[in-house]
Amino acid sequence: MKRFYWSLIIFVFISQVLCSCTSGHREYSDEIDRKVDSLLSLMTLDEKIGQLTLYASDINPTGPHKTSFCEDEISNGHVGGVFNVLGTDNAYKLQSLAVNNTRLRIPLLFGFDVIHGFKTIFPIPFAEACTWNPELIKKSASFSAKEAAAWGLNWTFNPMVDVTRDPRWGRVSEGSGEDPYLASVIAKAKVQGYQGEKLSDPFTVAACVKHFAAYGAPFGGRDYNTVDVSDRTLREIYLPPFKAAVDAGVLSVMSAFNELDGVPCTANKYLLTQILKNEWNFKGFVVSDWASVSELTTHGIAKDEQQAATLAINAGLDMDMQSGSYAKYLKKLVGKHLVDEQQINNAVKRILRTKYLLGLFDNPFLYIDKNRQKEVTSSKEIMDFALLEAKKSIVLLKNEKFNNKRLLPLNKNIKRIVLIGPLANNSIELLGSWHGYGDASNVKTILESLSEKLPNAKIEFTQGASFTGTDKSNFSKAVRSVQKSDLVICVIGENNALSGEASSRSNIDIPGVQLDLLKELARTGKPIVTVVMAGRPLILNWLDANIPAIIFTGQLGTKCSDALTDVLTGEYNPSGKLVMSFPRNVGQIPIFYNHKNTGRPFDANDLFTSKYLDVPNEPLYPFGFGLSYTTFKYSDLSINKKVMSKNDSLKVSFTVKNTGNYDGEETCQLYIRDVVASVTRPVKELKAFKKVYLKSGEQTLVSFTITSDDLKFYDKNMVYQCEPGEFTVYVGGNSSDLIEKNFELQ
Ligand code: NOJ
Repeated sequence: MKRFYWSLIIFVFISQVLCSCTSGHREYSDEIDRKVDSLLSLMTLDEKIGQLTLYASDINPTGPHKTSFCEDEISNGHVGGVFNVLGTDNAYKLQSLAVNNTRLRIPLLFGFDVIHGFKTIFPIPFAEACTWNPELIKKSASFSAKEAAAWGLNWTFNPMVDVTRDPRWGRVSEGSGEDPYLASVIAKAKVQGYQGEKLSDPFTVAACVKHFAAYGAPFGGRDYNTVDVSDRTLREIYLPPFKAAVDAGVLSVMSAFNELDGVPCTANKYLLTQILKNEWNFKGFVVSDWASVSELTTHGIAKDEQQAATLAINAGLDMDMQSGSYAKYLKKLVGKHLVDEQQINNAVKRILRTKYLLGLFDNPFLYIDKNRQKEVTSSKEIMDFALLEAKKSIVLLKNEKFNNKRLLPLNKNIKRIVLIGPLANNSIELLGSWHGYGDASNVKTILESLSEKLPNAKIEFTQGASFTGTDKSNFSKAVRSVQKSDLVICVIGENNALSGEASSRSNIDIPGVQLDLLKELARTGKPIVTVVMAGRPLILNWLDANIPAIIFTGQLGTKCSDALTDVLTGEYNPSGKLVMSFPRNVGQIPIFYNHKNTGRPFDANDLFTSKYLDVPNEPLYPFGFGLSYTTFKYSDLSINKKVMSKNDSLKVSFTVKNTGNYDGEETCQLYIRDVVASVTRPVKELKAFKKVYLKSGEQTLVSFTITSDDLKFYDKNMVYQCEPGEFTVYVGGNSSDLIEKNFELQ
């Protein structure tokens, strides 16, 4: 009997520990819940609805229509949070209204889109992901939080974890690419970085994972467009990064603008209540995206704003961003018994809990500190980090010989360089889309940076072309300069406005006449290095066929120019790897490495197999691809057992050797294929990766442990489990060039 009780106690203890690990942030506690309950018991219905209301200030609008920002509303206790308020004085003023003028003195949340840095700007998330380095990414989030939290902010609308397989979609720039595993690792790193160890630490902010869910899959890549994915694809491809963020303790989730299976996410009970709150036990709160509550009428599922508010709150949407529909109608709806006050109480509790965790009840002005602001903003530590991360985000796509010599790294004795392109002598566009409060005044241009690095070279700049438009009148001047040079460096691509929200493109060529310019320059026969900078994958076929050295990068932020010149000059050996497949043309989209095999996979000897007549099936550059100034060889793949049981694990090992002349860093990637299963499985799925740094000629043994968790999927009954049978393990430096071995799961 005694033994039974002991087992029971141990069981209860373990389940509580497990439960607290899976239910969100570790700092949630009964004590906080008691405080929340007692505060809630004092609140009027109006005050409760106030907590569910979030308004934007007009200082920095990030949506279509402006609010006339109402200080009276705050003083009356009718606002729970504000966003886009910039500057400590403004934040101080509004927080004072909330805590000094209202009956219950409930402090406000201050939100902002801190997407890739606050004052110091780090690489855009799409570029940052190319580092494949979660520790670094966690650090950039924590530095972003450190700066933002001194400027009055306590909540960032980030990370954006929308997996996407469509480079036409403009918001590719804000996410981590096409793979759910990599995106999950990054989601966790960012949440941990923003929120830190202790939420009431004034150097951290609450994170908000967005946009829940499948926003990255709009038809045709057009922003805000309809999404229709199967439940299996939703759960296997689009949801994992959200789950990872929730498991990492994210305090808030933003609902997406799009519909999912006919129900807009903002009113989608299946998503917000069943999956997020019930299945995942999420304890934070859900905020709508900008006015997406009132947009339920435009979607055509609500006849008016009143019905929109009913649908949203009943679906589990806790806070209304910007539409004002909750503020206008919830009270009436409770009166009409269309909304149960208990539903409102639940939402309020979630928001109050967050405010307690952030330490705002103890000190509403915790995040407003001018001294700290001066100390941390653009500190040397942050700037040094920005440079390091920017360097590690850069991807080398091609580096072939030109007249028997590789162009990169640059020969330091080069005398005359011509720098060409709209990004070559520009600051603001290097910050990338959605750089919020980022400061371009201290951003060097590439011309400045390269001139510093190569003081003995004569570096001439000529723009040649603009980002967009058809003007070719400066081509001849550029050609004349090139004719007198020893080397040409073109820096072309997209400006900030060409990616980001509401910036989808149907054609993802290098925009404007920049490619025509490059073609003209190539006709001179001079050696050309091209840096392509963009917020998404672009079509680079012509470059790949004609330009000997190509670098791709997303906009790299404050330290973009120094990072690029360090790579060009070889002070830093590039190590970035692509996080999206680069298509050969838009007709290949959607294109992604973890596709299915089909019943008729391509076979060059069989007409009736899956293919295009005019383009190969493969992308130009595959997911995970990126070169180095050195080369790496993979060999000796071994698995420590041929058969693994479900409770067991196995070890995959292989040798990586630096076979080139430079020291360098490699990202070793491990993919798995479930060969036969009850439902079709992708031809490969990324399951692990590791970075190794090897000196020239050095080799190392890399090992990964695989457990049955790595083999799980939603089976034909939508049960998440693994099935016995054969599996293939692949390892290599990208998703295409791999060595493989099989094992069996029993
Ligand atoms: C709309 C965007 O979709 C979202 O990502 C952002 O956080 C909000 N506007 C607030 O600016």
